[in-house]
Amino acid sequence: MHRIALAMLLAAAPVLAIADDVPAPLRPGAGQETVERICSGCHTTSYIRMNAPFLSEAQWKAEVTKMRQVFGAPIEDDEVAEILAYLIAEYGAPK
Ligand code: HEC
Repeated sequence: MHRIALAMLLAAAPVLAIADDVPAPLRPGAGQETVERICSGCHTTSYIRMNAPFLSEAQWKAEVTKMRQVFGAPIEDDEVAEILAYLIAEYGAPK
């Protein structure tokens, strides 16, 4: 019973990669330092690279909001735009 419930939960989850958490250098670009500083506090920046193929502009916005509001990532208001601009420019999914 429990096993079936878990399987259904997993099946309903969005397809996002969270395996292979190894450090990964990010592409050079405006905002790179801020992203590396803030987004490597809890997991490595490989999470960004692994999920790049799936995340459009709107989805990156949702990710950053989730990191802040759900997981408590220490992101200042004035850093959000910089982080998003970098993620969308360097790691936004192809349209
Ligand atoms: C306060 C801790 C914390 C910080 C800081 C943080 N994250 Fe996360 N992040 C998490 C947690 C917890 C998960 C859940 C996945 C896991 O590790 O199992 C996660 C997962 C992710 C994932 C995988 C997809 C998902 O939603 O589970 C991505 C992509 C991601 N984070 C991006 C970022 C970016 C970009 C930043 C910087 C803006 C960031 N994270 C900063 C805690 C954090």
